[in-house]
Amino acid sequence: MEERVLLSASHLCKKFRLDRKNSIYAVRDVSLDIYRGETLALVGESGCGKSTLARLLLRIIKADEGSVLFEGRDITGLSEKALLPYRKEMQMVFQDPASSLDPRMRIRDIIAEPLETWRIYDDRRKIDDRITELLEMVELNEDCLDRYPHQFSGGQKQRIGIARAIAAEPKLIVCDESVSALDVCVQAQILNLLKRLKDRLKLTCLFISHDLSVVSFIADRVCVMKNGAICEMDAAEKIYASPEHEYTKYLLSSIPKLIF
Ligand SMILES: Nc1ncnc2c1ncn2[C@@H]1O[C@H](COP(=O)(O)OP(=O)(O)OP(=O)(O)O)[C@@H](O)[C@H]1O
Ligand SMILES: [Mg+2]
Repeated sequence: MEERVLLSASHLCKKFRLDRKNSIYAVRDVSLDIYRGETLALVGESGCGKSTLARLLLRIIKADEGSVLFEGRDITGLSEKALLPYRKEMQMVFQDPASSLDPRMRIRDIIAEPLETWRIYDDRRKIDDRITELLEMVELNEDCLDRYPHQFSGGQKQRIGIARAIAAEPKLIVCDESVSALDVCVQAQILNLLKRLKDRLKLTCLFISHDLSVVSFIADRVCVMKNGAICEMDAAEKIYASPEHEYTKYLLSSIPKLIF
């Protein structure tokens, strides 16, 4: 496998049983590579299988068919225990910051959790220094540390979620609709932050969104999904300038004209 490929998926399929008679194919025969240092955007309408695909790639759920290689190693059939070292390398930032942060934990403990779980540092001082560094990266003040999630705005909570996701220096972060719950102005701030972090930390990011105008700001490549399958994947400039697939054209045509 090429050195520049961080994660490679081949022919992934996932079917969910709805009841005794009916099933739904959430992901059908999806193959894709994620390159080191890139932001790959996954776009498509609600229900097209984006989150299911992300969960398959991170091995949160098991595929019915197909395989996932992380740095060339096949993680498809690994047990939970064997997956542990990979869990550190692949982190997620969720859509709803309110429900993804434990309301009973102080911000200090939320950000420290991955550092403690993965035993990154051997003494408390180093953990505290790293927390201070992470706060600075996500542009929050140190006076946040002893407060609880409900004392923050949506945008601030998402900054905390990002700090937690990058704390243990994962090789891949997956942002699943991470700015969708925020108002447009705060969306732009968080997108700017993610872009700065990407440059500074050379992050590899799978950025999931139903909104092509949001994606245009951050993506190097764009993968368009429809009904569980990929219909087009290419460099972002190419997708926006000359989309080939009818569905991509349709998605682009639904972006408000004021923006494009
Ligand atoms: N655990 C599950 N059991 C049954 N069906 C599921 C399950 N998870 C997802 N699905 C179905 O699989 C399809 C794909 O869902 P998925 O959540 O991956 O879509 P999505 O593209 O992330 O949508 P959204 O943009 O709304 O987040 C949907 O039809 C959904 O109802
Ligand atoms: Mg989803």
